Order: sequence, then C-alpha cells, then structure tokens
Amino acid sequence: MKRIAVLTSGGDCSGMNATLRAVVRAGLVSGLEVIGIQKGYQGLIDRLYEQMSTRSVSNILQRGGTFLQSARCKEMRTAAGLKLASDNLKGMGVEGLIVIGGDGSLKGGYAIQQQGIPVIGIPASIDNDIPFTDYSLGVDTALNNIVHAVDNLKDTASSHDRTFVVETMGRSCGFLAVAAAIATGAEYSLIPEEPYNLDQICADLRNRFQEGRTNSIIMVAEGAGKAADIADQIKHRIGFETRIIVLGHYQRGGSPSVFDRILGARFGQAAVESLLKGDGGMMVGLQGADIVLTDLTKVTSSGIRPINPMLPRLANQLLA
Ligand code: F6P
Repeated sequence: MKRIAVLTSGGDCSGMNATLRAVVRAGLVSGLEVIGIQKGYQGLIDRLYEQMSTRSVSNILQRGGTFLQSARCKEMRTAAGLKLASDNLKGMGVEGLIVIGGDGSLKGGYAIQQQGIPVIGIPASIDNDIPFTDYSLGVDTALNNIVHAVDNLKDTASSHDRTFVVETMGRSCGFLAVAAAIATGAEYSLIPEEPYNLDQICADLRNRFQEGRTNSIIMVAEGAGKAADIADQIKHRIGFETRIIVLGHYQRGGSPSVFDRILGARFGQAAVESLLKGDGGMMVGLQGADIVLTDLTKVTSSGIRPINPMLPRLANQLLA
C-alpha cells in the first residue's frame, strides 16, 4: 500500500483535527502518502484534495472543528454519486480510505468499501449514538461545554427562583442530556429513549418548591422535545417562571478535551495500522480501555447505540 486518503464528514466535532493529525503522521512515518479530502464526500465527488505533509497538521491538535472542513452530502446517497466518488479515489491512486464521521458517514464508507476500496471508519459525533464504541469522538468535549453552560445557568436560576429548560443536541439519542444531568445535578433529563410525564414533573416541581428547592434545571435532548414547548407547558400548568436555552451548535465547537485529543490520536493511529494490515470495511471503537475493530456491516445495520439504563436511573436516584 502506497497511498491512503482521509476525510471528515457530516456534523463536525472537537477532536477531528487531533485525529487528522494522528492519521497523517502515523501514515507518513509508515512510508505512506496521505491525501486529505476537503469538505467530506462532497470534496471527493468534486475532486477537492491536497497532499498532506507533516507540516500540514502542525498546530491543529488543540483546535475545534476540522481543518479539512466537512459537509452533509446528499449526492453520496445516489448510485451516480457513489460511483463518481469511488472512481475519483481510484483515479487518485488511493488504496485505502479513512472516514471520520457519524452514522451517515460510516454508511457512505461502507458503500465505498463495496466498490473495492478498503475503508476504515472512525466514529465521530457528539450524539454518542454510534454502536460498538463506548465513546465517539467529540462527545466528551461537548459534555464539558454543556456542563460549563449549566453551571453558569444554575447561578442565575438560584438568584431568581427560576426553572430553566436546557435543550441539548441528540436527535435520537439522549446521552448528552442524561450524562450532563448527572454531571451538573440537573433535576430532570428528558430523553427520546424513555417516555416522560409532564404532569408528574410539574407536581414534583411544585412539591420541591414547597420544600424550599426553588430553582431547577430540566435537560431535554432535542429528540425528546423543544425547550420552548416544555417551558410554556410548565408555566401554563403551575405558573412557574421559566427560561430556556437551546445550546445548539455551541456544543460542537471549542478546543478538544484531553480525553478527545487522546481518543483521536488512538483512533487515527489504529485506523492507519488496520489499513496497513490489510483490513477494510471496519470501524475502530473504544470498548473499555481497548481500541477494537467492528465490521462496518454490523455498525451500519445495528441502529442507534442503546443508552445504558443505569444512566437515567442514576440521574433520578441522586435527586432524592
Ligand atoms: O449529528 C450530530 C448533530 O450535532 C445532531 O445532534 C444535530 O441534530 C445535528 O448534528 C445538527 O446538524 P447540522 O449541523 O447539519 O445543523
């Protein structure tokens, strides 16, 4: 194997740059040429790429986002787009591709693998919804961002006896909301994986208020409801003064945490090593303390990573 390529695709996250640095440098020290594809699969289709040197990835480790840029590419889901992307890779003499991205991006990688080009996927999505890895890249930094925001909100909530509803990202996975609730001591976490009863929550809020607990934080994952609707309903049902914050893309940026930097380094190096060993059609993942390879067929057909039921239970228990 002489030449590999790497791209970042889908929603960006912190730690992508650290991973790109690891891929490029691990590739170069193994004697490979490394091509960086810009703007994800769109760049592959449009032939936007550059040859990477060790200097190309200097001074990016600590930066959020992805210096290669990313995109959500509809064309990749068509047969014509997939063929163009694969033909372009072959035309560039690329013998192995590393895809850093979320579930849709890994599906794209699997499709390219089926066109005969070995692909290794690296799970990257703040949602932590990708199966066969305990953590995806970017999750830890996003959680730190959320915790910082909620800690600040708690100061002002307690000064004004207010209920804050905080909306996190997580289209179909409530990991960020529930993990942040545990880390901040938020009173509730509403997640898509578990039904919730707003009447019960309102009754609890009223009781807590009577006991002197006059402010509260309700975390809601975007897939479980809109912060504005929930706040309106609380106000309407029990008259509490509510405020909302939608954390949105703030969660995805910022300098990566130590955990994400090291995870990115480990994922990147393992992906290069796997290609060199002749693997393809696999995803690297963190399972316990180990980096483990899982077949992309399994990853892309297993649906959303299930939430550990211990997490919502723990969040509730600690509120007693
Ligand atoms: O998949 C990651 C994610 O951050 C989701 O949590 C969120 O719903 C979505 O991306 C937002 O996508 P975009 O950046 O395209 O608006």
